[in-house]
Amino acid sequence: MKLTRRTAAAAALVALGACTQAEQEAASNYRPVGDLADLMAGVVEPAAEVIWDAVGVIVDAEGEHQLAPQTEEEWMALRLAAYTVAESGNLLMMPERALDQGAWITMSQSLVEMGQRAIEAADARNLDAIFDVGAEIYYVCTNCHGTYALETLRPNDARAN
Ligand code: HEC
Repeated sequence: MKLTRRTAAAAALVALGACTQAEQEAASNYRPVGDLADLMAGVVEPAAEVIWDAVGVIVDAEGEHQLAPQTEEEWMALRLAAYTVAESGNLLMMPERALDQGAWITMSQSLVEMGQRAIEAADARNLDAIFDVGAEIYYVCTNCHGTYALETLRPNDARAN
């Protein structure tokens, strides 16, 4: 079939009909600014790094040192990073960004949940809980990359290309 402008327009109308009107209206309010890579590199990763770097144990020649936020500013930075991780899960679920409505949504929701746990742990100033939730966050990242962005996990893996 020759695809004229009219048949293309008709096909587009049929495709539009597949979404509910509410979905279309909701989707049209968003204007994604970055693509997935921008969102990861500019929002998700820097916020997660703040959480991962905040607590832990460093072992050197003098022995073990517990890392922990030292000032009110450092605690606040940790708390805000946790909010950023949580809300970035919502950004990933935006209709323009979601790669599917199944596992992608489930993993994005996990990021929201883990971010919320990190907020609670920061509010409680519970170093162990912050460390544990950091590990859970890392698991969510790698789980999604293993499914949708293998090249992010293993740049040299032939299966990724
Ligand atoms: C719901 C899925 C999903 C989750 C959750 C997720 N990512 Fe990603 N991430 C992706 C996808 C897909 C790409 C590949 C984007 C592209 O290159 O188009 C990516 C790419 C990246 C990149 C490479 C960006 C670049 O510059 O090319 C980084 C860094 C990254 N993610 C960090 C993280 C971190 C840190 C977390 C967890 C805190 C995380 N991601 C959670 C899906 C996800």
